[in-house]
Amino acid sequence: MRIVVLTGAGISAESGVPTFRDAGGLWEGHQVEDVATPEAFAAQPHVVHSFYDARRAALRDVAPNDAHRALARLEAAVGDDLLVVTQNVDDLHERSGSRRVVHMHGELRAARCLACGVRQPWLDPLSHLPPCPRCGAAALRPDVVWFGEVPYDMDRIEEALGEADLFVSIGTSGAVYPAAGSVRLAAAYGARTLELNLEPSVGSSMFDEARQGPATRLVPAWVAEVLSGP
Ligand code: OAD
Repeated sequence: MRIVVLTGAGISAESGVPTFRDAGGLWEGHQVEDVATPEAFAAQPHVVHSFYDARRAALRDVAPNDAHRALARLEAAVGDDLLVVTQNVDDLHERSGSRRVVHMHGELRAARCLACGVRQPWLDPLSHLPPCPRCGAAALRPDVVWFGEVPYDMDRIEEALGEADLFVSIGTSGAVYPAAGSVRLAAAYGARTLELNLEPSVGSSMFDEARQGPATRLVPAWVAEVLSGP
């Protein structure tokens, strides 16, 4: 059985990583459009860099939870039959052992050079404008996808959705496209669809089944079901 899992901020919430929309549209006290658009970066690069530097540094204080670990267990059991597509820019899937992970909205622990285009792992701050190790230009930006930009790896994601027998959405509000359109696409290709979320999402009714509760309870239970067979 081929499975595509889409994760959002809700899967990392119990690890202590704040979600986007649960705090009334604010993102750690910032309006999203003040920090997560190319226009904001052009107008106030220091503000945007400082914001992402703080979020990158905060990753040192969080750890994967039982939901991340359950998905890693599932991958260990089914291998290439599972693809995790995450909207999250944290690295908690990787730290729990998942390897088949697509970061459609990029990664906090990576930088992209606006001069030479190279994308590379990056753990340090960017606000002091360090030179790109490849070309030397002081033109690094966080390798995250901002509003108005095209998410990464859409071809690979659509191909996986086309082959999926089961699509599972975990901890995402369904408010941001194209990720939110995955359920319709998967269903149109013939997959069964399941939502695991704290509360019904905007698109809950599009799923064949929706279960409500915290990810650390729902995800391990669902993985146990899959691993115990039909
Ligand atoms: P949101 O903050 O929009 O939604 C988080 C969802 O997780 C909500 O539906 C919550 O009910 C649910 N949730 C919260 N705690 C949970 C828990 N413990 N267990 C299960 N579910 C829980 O985050 P995303 O849907 O990930 O994009 O947001 C999508 C995109 O919008 C982000 O990737 C980001 C943002 O703007 C970009 O930065 C491009």
